[in-house]
Amino acid sequence: MSQYNIALLPGDGIGHEVMEAASIVLEKLKLDASYVQGDIGWEFWKKEGNPLPDRTIELLKTTHCCLFGAITSKPNEEAVRELDPSLKNKDLAYFSPIVRLRQEFGLSTNLRPCKSYPGNPLNYRDDINLVVFRENTEGLYSGVEFHPVPESLKEQLLTLHPRMKKFGSVDVEDMALSCRIFTREACRHIVTDAFQYAEKHGYKSVTVVEKPNVIRETSGLMIRTARNVAAGFPGIELWETNVDAMCMWLLKNPQDYSVLVSSNMFGDIISDLCAQLVGGLGFACSANIGSQYAVFEPTHGSAPKYAGQYKVNPMAMILCVKLMLDWLGEGEMASAVESAVAKVVRAGKIKTYDMKGTHGTLDVAHAVAEQL
Ligand code: NAI
Ligand code: MG
Repeated sequence: MSQYNIALLPGDGIGHEVMEAASIVLEKLKLDASYVQGDIGWEFWKKEGNPLPDRTIELLKTTHCCLFGAITSKPNEEAVRELDPSLKNKDLAYFSPIVRLRQEFGLSTNLRPCKSYPGNPLNYRDDINLVVFRENTEGLYSGVEFHPVPESLKEQLLTLHPRMKKFGSVDVEDMALSCRIFTREACRHIVTDAFQYAEKHGYKSVTVVEKPNVIRETSGLMIRTARNVAAGFPGIELWETNVDAMCMWLLKNPQDYSVLVSSNMFGDIISDLCAQLVGGLGFACSANIGSQYAVFEPTHGSAPKYAGQYKVNPMAMILCVKLMLDWLGEGEMASAVESAVAKVVRAGKIKTYDMKGTHGTLDVAHAVAEQL
């Protein structure tokens, strides 16, 4: 029996191509692992009315962790239109399989390293080394939303909060409400992960990115919790910035920052900004981490216009392999993968179209494998 059992979920479109690239690198590493393929994505929505079939969830439960490619998703109306005719009258609604994975496996930490590998023509600067920790399960993406706002809820809010008065005369049909729910536990968890990471990797600061001067209660809870957590890490400074200013600082002095931590939506936004500083979607890897399980996925989607062409950059997916190896405790192999990526980028010979090259997805994978 192998030491690790790893699920591979290629998904849709270029998900298949970048997964093939990852497999080339994994094969070269000779990791003591067995791999199982699972079903996820648009094809399964159309055929079965479920983009994440229960058998896939069961399969994942038998594995240590999962590498995930990318999926296609579409607005609900279109989703229903594309269903197999036999499924059309069953009142099925499309639900994001990634969100479901995060919920099903309690993957509350989203980790996105954004490092510039020198020689990449897409780098904003060559000395950027950022890691974003994003709370993955609550905040503005909790999904607790109303439209119209129930009359009883509006009445309750009017009695509970003076600022609600401004909306007292608005018809419930003409207002929408999305709840930004933070729990102390989730704030503590994400900030602790960020500090532990900073400690393990020798970073001197953790920057908490919120907006407590305006969103006093939720961002306030995050900041207060962060100060508490920081007290347990005397060697690491806690920096506090507002999310709007942070966007400016990230463009002005990205090299001054290292570990950033934020709630779900702000983390989503700043991590896209950080990714673009170091090469964009072709380099942006991420990990969804829970206490027992983790799913590693490139940030990009299924890029339908390139599907089947073996043109896209597999580096994001290969860097996911690096993150997975780190999480499994295979630090040496993880470093080897990262060095191989850095060498291929620095040499500048094998490049996909996004880096102004003409090579294919698998050429890059083979070049990385050759460096291993
Ligand atoms: P996308 O990320 O699939 O592609 C946008 C553009 O970015 C592509 O046309 C391409 O020019 C570039 N790009 C993406 N990945 C690249 C790579 N590895 N190398 C080089 N260039 C790359 O985003 P889009 O077009 O908004 O969405 C397409 C589909 O993917 C949609 O159905 C969307 O819902 C889904 N999606 C899925 C995600 C996931 O599986 N995690 C995330 C984002 C979108
Ligand atoms: Mg995003």
